[in-house]
Amino acid sequence: MTLDSNFLKLCQEVFKAAYDATIDLVGTGSASSFIRMGADGTPTARIDQEAEDAIIEVLKADGRSMRILSEELGELFIGNSPEFTVVLDPLDGTYNASAGIPFYNVSIAFTSHDLSDLRFGYVSNLALKEEFYAEAGKGAYLNGNKIKPSPNSDLNNLCVSVYGYRHNVERTLKISSNVRRVRLFGSVALELCYVASGRLDAFVDVRKALRVTDVAAGQLILEEAGGRVTDGYGNTLRLPDNVTARVEMVASNGQVHKKLLSLLSRG
Ligand code: IPD
Ligand code: CA
Repeated sequence: MTLDSNFLKLCQEVFKAAYDATIDLVGTGSASSFIRMGADGTPTARIDQEAEDAIIEVLKADGRSMRILSEELGELFIGNSPEFTVVLDPLDGTYNASAGIPFYNVSIAFTSHDLSDLRFGYVSNLALKEEFYAEAGKGAYLNGNKIKPSPNSDLNNLCVSVYGYRHNVERTLKISSNVRRVRLFGSVALELCYVASGRLDAFVDVRKALRVTDVAAGQLILEEAGGRVTDGYGNTLRLPDNVTARVEMVASNGQVHKKLLSLLSRG
């Protein structure tokens, strides 16, 4: 896989295509209309479908052979000898987009044939046009400026995104009752970027509901910024090579990682 392949430019073309395809649907009733069940096992809404269709056209026009793992369509090969894999969530935060809440994004990661070899990650807020990206070994950026996580190490002062509802609620109770602030925004990819840029101190989601498409790009951005990502037990997060498997995640500024893990009950 060549590293001089200008993934940022391709991601910006992807962003523009997704933006143009969705802007008239944002905040309207038809955004969330059911199209079919997606490859990941959750419903594909009209706005998801429009975003994915537009993005796939851009990736086809790129001309390189690639393998795509995308939330709605599953696996797609372009050409016969893929140079890399693209892990795509055409629209992360579908509810927010449909409801007109300005916190939803396109998330795209480029990996070698081994998905854990993350090479480039791009997460861009389609409403605010804030662009987070990272290339392996080269740091993480927001709108071209280098970012790093917060230095906070005091549990009592943390602002953490804790997905403590529905599944495994009891595992997160001690975290919610020990940190200073809890925020929940509804788009995991962007929340990981918020940890990377110091806006949040940590992100905890142990519902076992996250797919590779939600987390691949954000994980690289956070790790390149200097933060830490593990599963809920402190183990290396293994990214599944399909869109159906689910994972859990603890992501932090690195300073508070062990403390947060120690507050998580075992499932
Ligand atoms: C969702 C968002 C949300 C998380 C869900 C995901 P989608 O992604 O990332 O924050 O709570 O688990 O499904 O479905 O809007 O792409
Ligand atoms: Ca999605």
